[in-house]
Amino acid sequence: MKKPALKMALAASLTFSAFGTQAVLAKPSEAVQSQPYKVFDNKVINEINVDNIYNNIDYLAKVPRVAGTEAEYNAVQFIKSEFESYGYGVDIQEFTFTGYTPPSSMELTVDGFEGELNPSSFTYTPSGDVTGELVLAGLGKKEELADIDLTGKIALIKRGEITFGEKVLNATATGAAGVIIYNNADGAVNGTLGEAREDYAPAIALTKAEGEALAAHVQSGTVSASLKVEGAVTEERTSHNVIATKKPTNKKKANNDVIVVGAHHDSVELAPGANDDASGTATTLELARVLKNVPTDTEIRFITFGAEELGLIGSTHYVDNLPEDELNRIIANFNLDMVGSKDAGDLVMMTADGEPNLVTELAQESSKRLNGEATPYAQGGRSDHVPFAEAGIPAALFIHDPVEPWYHTPEDTIDKISKEKLQDVAEIVGTAVYDKARFDNTGTKAKKVKKEKNIELYHNKDVK
Ligand code: BES
Ligand code: ZN
Repeated sequence: MKKPALKMALAASLTFSAFGTQAVLAKPSEAVQSQPYKVFDNKVINEINVDNIYNNIDYLAKVPRVAGTEAEYNAVQFIKSEFESYGYGVDIQEFTFTGYTPPSSMELTVDGFEGELNPSSFTYTPSGDVTGELVLAGLGKKEELADIDLTGKIALIKRGEITFGEKVLNATATGAAGVIIYNNADGAVNGTLGEAREDYAPAIALTKAEGEALAAHVQSGTVSASLKVEGAVTEERTSHNVIATKKPTNKKKANNDVIVVGAHHDSVELAPGANDDASGTATTLELARVLKNVPTDTEIRFITFGAEELGLIGSTHYVDNLPEDELNRIIANFNLDMVGSKDAGDLVMMTADGEPNLVTELAQESSKRLNGEATPYAQGGRSDHVPFAEAGIPAALFIHDPVEPWYHTPEDTIDKISKEKLQDVAEIVGTAVYDKARFDNTGTKAKKVKKEKNIELYHNKDVK
């Protein structure tokens, strides 16, 4: 928790000025230790038990929870039963996506070639075992391929100008049985074909040096090559969003607004994802528990999303499948993603457009009340607030910046989790949500502005 002495003294002095008629808890005798929390803040703060958050992270982060796997499904069942144990009705929203397993091995042998070749793969290349003549195919552009007979052959293509996916499709469309793309600069390619398709020939990548040596070899005469990609699988997989709903306490006094508090429960391959994002999932669970029995006039939905790591698939599915009038009811999305690392920086809020909105305003007010300092905001995508923002809903990602060195690694484990950071985020978000949802506050209808999709808000793997 960030509560330095100076801020506490400042907070105490603010007690009598800044907060109008609201009751504040700082008794004169305790003024230096106390903060100008409002009574309603304490309804949340006093109930948060950070050990619950920590223990649920510990439980969830025993193994990676890759979307579509049994481990993710087990996490979904655990989250559902936790919500139910607090008294919630839970909906499981199932969805499918095209999953991909990268090859377990790749092999390239070229007749008469002396040098060493260490091919790497492209995301979405299929498996295959092909032998054919190796043919120079320039940059793999359609007009270049028009004059080359690639039928049953292996195309050797240089990186540049068009995407890897376009090169492979152009070559495949003119009959190539396999594709090799070599780099146009030093370093590994680390590329993707961009999307799963059935009409790709198997494709592998080489370094610039390997590719140029091979091109020189081909120019010396007719050369046969064998290209083998093993273990790559493209298939339909199933993931789930878990939704627990708190209806307004009193139907007659309810407004029509909905606040979504959420996190993603899936992780990347090989990473137990204690911070990314068991931390946000467990904090969402604890806020659901804490807020279960406080009186509210606003609906609160606690949602953990699947398949975030594969392209915000669960949150996009959720937003895309809400009817317009339901979407219009959502006034705020608090997205908790990576909220507990000891080794990360300070808390920030990221909005997709870099502008403040209802979420940042509520959390700035609550953080000021609690810590004497407003949590800053900046521009940032890369998580489940993006589909909400694109639908015109005020949304923000809560994250510590800079992120920890364990991000997306097998070292993202429970021992790197800070209870202080968890407590701080749970308090700021919990009191911000409650401030808006409690009875004596008015309903707001946020203005909807449909945003253009911005691919950079999603990911940045090489496609060209
Ligand atoms: N928790 C991260 C998002 C993140 C990491 C935001 C670091 C800001 C700084 C999230 O789970 C993630 O890894 N997202 C992907 C993008 C997604 C669209 C696949 C990423 O950033 O690579
Ligand atoms: Zn994440």
